[in-house]
Amino acid sequence: MTHTDKTLPRPHTWPAGVRVMLTAFVGMIGVGYLFAIANIYHQHQMADGEAGLSLNDLRAAYSGLTIRRTNETTIPSRMLTMLRTSMREYVDDDADFNVLESWLKAGGSEAGLTEGEKRRTPERVLILNCLRCHAEDSNTEISHKSPFGPDELTVDYSMIKEFVAVETSVNRDIVEVPPQLTIPRLVLVTHAHMLAIPVFTLIIGGLFAGARFPKRLQSWLTPLPMLALILDFSGWWLARSISGAVFVIAGAGAIFGLVFGLQIIVVVLDLWRSGPRSASSD
Ligand code: HEC
Repeated sequence: MTHTDKTLPRPHTWPAGVRVMLTAFVGMIGVGYLFAIANIYHQHQMADGEAGLSLNDLRAAYSGLTIRRTNETTIPSRMLTMLRTSMREYVDDDADFNVLESWLKAGGSEAGLTEGEKRRTPERVLILNCLRCHAEDSNTEISHKSPFGPDELTVDYSMIKEFVAVETSVNRDIVEVPPQLTIPRLVLVTHAHMLAIPVFTLIIGGLFAGARFPKRLQSWLTPLPMLALILDFSGWWLARSISGAVFVIAGAGAIFGLVFGLQIIVVVLDLWRSGPRSASSD
């Protein structure tokens, strides 16, 4: 037996009544911790507007998020706009109007110009309804400015191309969202957590230190949850100015969860495991 073995409590040597009480206590802490995780999940998972817990949820809560919002708007072609407004009156037949409108909405391709059922093509609609003013040889004022073809029977795609072109405008705004936890909220959350969690972390860690477990590993694992808590709490505050601190929060949370969970399991098993009633069993 080493010196530490003598000074540490040996929970498995304690009377059965004490061990029952400790088992009930540790069990509640374990279940309580699972509920705490469920609570974190529900409170934070939607923080970034998307389901599932991710680093962006931590960013949204503690350090603020930068969101890129993209709006893509299709600007109707000049001909589509005119067809729906001031040129609407020149198309008597609604079916003709629909043929021309759908072709324009689809982007007004050269191939589509001569496609259509029963010879009802965009080209024919243009010839029947538009060329009397928009053919070059019609000699109207508009035909000099915006001709659709050389004569009243011919549509020249290269002439109408500029009127059927569809443009897309992409609008990007960067939206800066401040941390959801305001300073007063963070003060509240910090004090509530800092005064409570270390207390049961200490009790579980103390019981774990006295359990029968490989000695070297035990002395590494005993302080880990408590150290992880320090990193976690600091991360909450650091993240406000250093956004990379969310990695510290996530990492510390993972280390705490894993080692704390392991400590609970080892403590309960050790309380009821028979074997040498004396200290080390490794
Ligand atoms: C009665 C004559 C007439 C007919 C028929 C006519 N237009 Fe026009 N169009 C005009 C005049 C005049 C203008 C210019 C005034 C304006 O912008 O409102 C014009 C302007 C336009 C423009 C804008 C040109 C530019 O330079 O920006 C387009 C596109 C257009 N028409 C398409 C059509 C289509 C498609 C049809 C057939 C459905 C049609 N027009 C039938 C007289 C006509």
